[in-house]
Amino acid sequence: MNKNRKAFVAANWKMNVLPSKAVQLAEDIIEACGNLHVDVVIAPPFTHLSLMKQLIFNNFSLAAQNVHFEDYGAHTGSVSVPMLKDLNVEYVILGHSEIREANHLENSLLPMKINACLKADLSIIYCCGEPKEEREKQNEKQYVKRQLDENFSQLIEWNSEKIIIAYEPIWAIGTGLTASSEQADEMHAFIRNWIGKKYGDKNARETRILYGGSVKSSNAKELAMKENIDGALVGGASLKAEEFSLIVRGFKG
Ligand code: PGA
Repeated sequence: MNKNRKAFVAANWKMNVLPSKAVQLAEDIIEACGNLHVDVVIAPPFTHLSLMKQLIFNNFSLAAQNVHFEDYGAHTGSVSVPMLKDLNVEYVILGHSEIREANHLENSLLPMKINACLKADLSIIYCCGEPKEEREKQNEKQYVKRQLDENFSQLIEWNSEKIIIAYEPIWAIGTGLTASSEQADEMHAFIRNWIGKKYGDKNARETRILYGGSVKSSNAKELAMKENIDGALVGGASLKAEEFSLIVRGFKG
């Protein structure tokens, strides 16, 4: 971590936790994390957002796990940016590999989703990362570069406060396999360099880049020691308040 960037740890609950249990888990997380100098974000399923909107204060914010790029209309099953804003949601996770895999059109929708969020002042946690075969072919950097080039193709101006990047190698998500802190740091430096070339050094220096993929309390500290790793996007380990708070503490600097 670099002291000039505030640490950021997000809980991605995915399709877990019943609505009736969500407020309690979020309160436990908030209490266990205490008042640390870390931005903590919880991304529950859509159904929980309105129940949780009153919990958000201080360093805590709510995120959604996806969004549609249109504001309103005949899009059954979708949720829009104005709807999320109306519920005090501050962040949206975009481009998660589980969504990219389930919907092969997702990659092509991302430029419009990124624009819709940023235009409405909604921050994004943009996910990228390579599958196992690409890592085995030592093609991981080219793969991530292509994702960045394609998904940010319509973005003219970068906003380092509103854009958080999460590097999540697909082979490490939910598998118990974590990229080594060196592998993660190397990719984060590569992404930072990509931002610098396209949007300037200041944005590259200021943008927070999270690592995701089997982050646990036992590996958080080691990841946090790396210059380019500014936090984590945590799936499985975010469902237990104590375990998640230890990860947050690992990144407190
Ligand atoms: P995991 O998930 O921590 O369970 O590997 C991370 C993610 O998919 O965001």
